[in-house]
Amino acid sequence: MRSHENLSKKSLYLDERIDLSGGTKGWDNKSKEKAKDLPNFINATVGTARNNDGSLLIFPTLLEEFGKLSGDQIFAYANIRGMPKFAKLWKEDTLASFPADRVERTDRLSTLPLTSCGLTGGLSLAGEAFLDRDDSLLIPNSRWGNIDNVLLKNQRLKEVNYELLDGEGQLSFLDLAEKIKILDNNGKKFGIYLNFPNNPSGISPSFEQVKILQESLSEVTTPTIILLDDAYEGYVYESDVINYSLFPHLVGLNENVIVVKMDGASKRYCAYGARLGAVTLGFGYEIDEEEKTSIREVLAKITRSSVSNSPRGIQEAIINVLEDNGKQTKIQQERKIVHNILSNRYKNMKRIADEKETKLLFPIEYNSGFFSYFLLKNNKSATEVSKKLLDKGLGTVPFENRSNGLNGIRVAFCSIRDEDIEKTTDILYSID
Ligand SMILES: Cc1ncc(COP(=O)(O)O)c(C=O)c1O
Repeated sequence: MRSHENLSKKSLYLDERIDLSGGTKGWDNKSKEKAKDLPNFINATVGTARNNDGSLLIFPTLLEEFGKLSGDQIFAYANIRGMPKFAKLWKEDTLASFPADRVERTDRLSTLPLTSCGLTGGLSLAGEAFLDRDDSLLIPNSRWGNIDNVLLKNQRLKEVNYELLDGEGQLSFLDLAEKIKILDNNGKKFGIYLNFPNNPSGISPSFEQVKILQESLSEVTTPTIILLDDAYEGYVYESDVINYSLFPHLVGLNENVIVVKMDGASKRYCAYGARLGAVTLGFGYEIDEEEKTSIREVLAKITRSSVSNSPRGIQEAIINVLEDNGKQTKIQQERKIVHNILSNRYKNMKRIADEKETKLLFPIEYNSGFFSYFLLKNNKSATEVSKKLLDKGLGTVPFENRSNGLNGIRVAFCSIRDEDIEKTTDILYSID
């Protein structure tokens, strides 16, 4: 019997549909191959922030705490829900990023977080907990590729595309509001995936824009589950957009709406491989502590029966930092340094791109996150353009899905050395 004949139907389904050679990982591999022949190759594929010497940007305070952990602290199991101290401190850390007048109310309307294996694990857990196969999921035309793998292919939710980014690269919630109305009229529970700062487009909304979404959500009469992917929360570089999670603006709107917030150490503390995510549930109405605990326990049961505990060492290290005022101040300063590095790259990238002319690319008004995003003029294929860029010494990731109008090139400025920003733009704009 051939080995594949033993696979389950689900595995065969996924084997046919999930392409590990495409997406960020695939284009990163292609870039690394190319870099062997081209010594000054710029790899702008992966969303990990890097120093100018190519090393990972990390938080020294967190690294130092890691070094001090005992064997027990690293190798023992953690509580399935996450270490209780970690959950408490992580929630405080999250709440501290919201405007002061939103903190108490958001705290009241939400659970303690529950840990997951990275944000990806959190998204998978949230989908499993709240949505059933064939439930509709409103999902933006501009989105992180792996979300299709997790929610559409693995969990078999039904894709209902909404236009977050129009042909001019402008963010709008109007199409989402319209689609919410249509699904609400069907009377069947549905999900909405939101991700700001958005991967790949690097856009975040203003208060005015979010009002449209709030109004729409406040009118729904069927159960609605918002999956709020906050991977890049806080990395915002313009003053006219919201520079923290939308969570406090989406809870308490409507008793039919549950908001599931996914965040984690991956980007908040640049600890990508530590694989620590957090899932927090937010409600549309006042809910007592007993009910909060009992719904959180459902997530704990799903966790136990699937991936079980999340890594312990990173929780211990974060606890040690967050419960010590001095260390907490230090890590906030380090966070500012990382933010400033990225903000400078963002500003340089925009300035240089705006000064130059290109027949092919159309830089959108991105304002946040780890990426620059360029739509393509003349109906050229993003994939073909990324291939040409690779030959010219620049690794990018194409986002091309013609069925929903997506056709753009993502450039991860987070990993480009400051001195390479101009060269990056030159290569980008040299393609016609
Ligand atoms: C929008 C978005 N969500 C989730 C993730 C996954 O995060 P994690 O590495 O914590 O699983 C990423 C990673 O690139 C991302 O860009």
